[in-house]
Amino acid sequence: MSGSHRRDGLRIASMVHRISGLALALFLPLHFYTLGLALNDAAELDTFLRWTDNPLVKIAEAGLVGLLSLHLFGGLRLLALEFLPWSPRQKLYAALAASASVFVSLGFFLSAV
Ligand code: HEM
Repeated sequence: MSGSHRRDGLRIASMVHRISGLALALFLPLHFYTLGLALNDAAELDTFLRWTDNPLVKIAEAGLVGLLSLHLFGGLRLLALEFLPWSPRQKLYAALAASASVFVSLGFFLSAV
């Protein structure tokens, strides 16, 4: 029913899911560190938050939001694949997940700058 081009798109989707999941997990310690500052060191938190006004940090944050959206929408596609009746439109759904992520990430970036 399908040529290799069909499977390739979904292979990329699965790689994107794995890489985004791992990147989000790697980000967690930094996130917890910042939450820790909010509890223990208000002055240091202020310095850190001022640093996050840097445009490069905004770009990195938009990338992080993009990774989270990719993982969220891609994960919803995988859950649907697992629990709902089979649909042959997996490539379309993966493309929709990627488009929604670009939309969310750009929306975040434009509202942050
Ligand atoms: C936002 C809602 C989320 C949804 C709907 C979701 C969904 C999923 C699903 C369905 C899988 C299994 C993929 C498969 O069977 O191939 C998965 C894997 C994974 N998720 Fe999430 N996830 C979410 C949030 C997160 C977050 C916040 C993190 C990290 C902090 C994360 C890290 C991972 C990792 C590391 C894997 C394993 C990837 C792999 O080995 O291929 N996920 N996620």
